[in-house]
Formats: sequence, C-alpha cells, structure tokens
Amino acid sequence: MIEESPENLAKIPTHVAIIMDGNGRWALEKGLPRFAGHKAGTENLREVIEASVEFGIQYLTIYAFSTENWKRPQDEIQGLMRIFKTMLDRELNNLHENGVQLRHFGCLDRIDEVLKRKVIEAIELTKDNQTLILNVAFNYGGRDEILRAVQGIVKDGLPAEEVDEKTFSKYLYSANCPDPDLIIRTSGEYRCSNFLIWQGAYSEWYFTPTYWPDFGKEELHQALTAYNQRERRYGEVKKDPDK
Ligand code: IPE
Ligand code: IPE
Ligand code: MG
Repeated sequence: MIEESPENLAKIPTHVAIIMDGNGRWALEKGLPRFAGHKAGTENLREVIEASVEFGIQYLTIYAFSTENWKRPQDEIQGLMRIFKTMLDRELNNLHENGVQLRHFGCLDRIDEVLKRKVIEAIELTKDNQTLILNVAFNYGGRDEILRAVQGIVKDGLPAEEVDEKTFSKYLYSANCPDPDLIIRTSGEYRCSNFLIWQGAYSEWYFTPTYWPDFGKEELHQALTAYNQRERRYGEVKKDPDK
C-alpha cells in the first residue's frame, strides 16, 4: 500500500479522465449477470467523485457509454440506459448540493426522450456549480467527435488557414475544458477505445488490473501518486536541475 502522505500528491492533475472498464468481468467472476456489474459500477462512482473533490481535482471525465457500445446485445444496452436514468434520479440532488457541474460529451440523438430530457435538465440545473466539473462521456466516440468538429468547421465556412489547433479544439465537446492530465483505465486493458483521442495527445496514463466496481478512493490516490512520479516533457529535453 502506498503511504497517504501529502508529498505524494504535491502535483494534483487539473483534469482526470477515467475509462470505467471491467463491470462485466467483475460480475461474471462472482457468478452474477453482467447487469449486476453495471449496477455495482455506479455504486462506487459517488466515492470517486467525492474523493476527486477532496484531492482538489477540478475536472473529472468519465467514460460511461461509447459509440461502439451500441454493438452490445439489446438487453444489455437497455439495462445500461435504465441504470443511467436511476443514477441521475438518485444522485442529481447530492451532486448539485456538492457543487458539481454536469456536462455531457457525446451526442444525444439516439438516446430515448426521457433520458435525453433528464440529461438536459441536469446540465441546466448544475450549470453554475464550480467545485468540480464532471464531464460524462455518454454515447461518445473520439472519431465521431472529430468528424463532427470538421463538419462544424465546414458549415461555418472557416478559411483553411484559420483552422489551427486552438480553433479546432473549440469545435469539440471539450471546448471549455483543459486537456486531461491523467487518464486512468481499469480492468487491465491497455487501449484507449476511442476515448479523448485528440485531447489525450499528451496525457499521462495509469493502468490498473482492478475492475471498475472495486476502484475507490485509495486506488485513485495511488493513481495520483504515480502521476506525481512522472516527468511531462511534451517533446522537450529533460530539464537539468542544476541550471
Ligand atoms: C464497462 O464495463 C462499462 C461499459 C462499457 C458500459 P464492461 O461492460 O466493458 O465490462 P467488461 O470489460 O466486459 O468486463
Ligand atoms: C470502453 O470500454 C467504453 C467504456 C468504458 C464506456 P469497452 O469495454 O467498451 O472497450 P473495449 O471494447 O474493450 O475496447
Ligand atoms: Mg469492457
């Protein structure tokens, strides 16, 4: 166990993003249906959100449903949508009282009307909160996001020479959000699965074999400790401490 000393966390990442993976395997290994894993995977979210506030993280992005997850069996998709609705009903007031601002990364076009309305209302209700910005990547895909940005730029008739990184970023779902400093993926998979492929260009990655329902405050602390041991160079050469 890593000691929870303040020096371990001298640098707190402004923006942490999490690929919450491993719900299905968590359940199957316990002899439960995958659905039980998805349910359990929302139970620990409150702890992770509260810990993020406690550690001083300002932006937290969670990958809840990808544009590729539509390929799953219909009953799993419906189960997931039901869980998202219940989650919003159950947690919204608590999030609002704790100063969490909800934002959505993704497209609501394919989402059923009831859930769509709940998402829009939650965004509206919490829009002035500043303690933590919680971006929920829901029906989100990095390639889809980039294509939509290109379409927006073409529609707006921007001249080619004006399309630089700064302008391009304004057309992404993350327009008002800094790039993630740290991306965490649970469940022992080592891939990005179409998550924040533009924004994550220089993110630090933390991988853990822990399945998402078992990921809590202590492991978030471990991820932050690992982050503190990284040297971010952005293509430059290592800084000489004597100069
Ligand atoms: C992550 O858990 C939740 C979603 C993708 C919605 P998984 O459902 O992918 O769980 P595994 O990877 O199959 O264990
Ligand atoms: C990524 O997990 C998407 C979410 C966590 C919402 P997946 O389980 O869908 O990713 P792959 O299919 O293993 O790459
Ligand atoms: Mg998975």
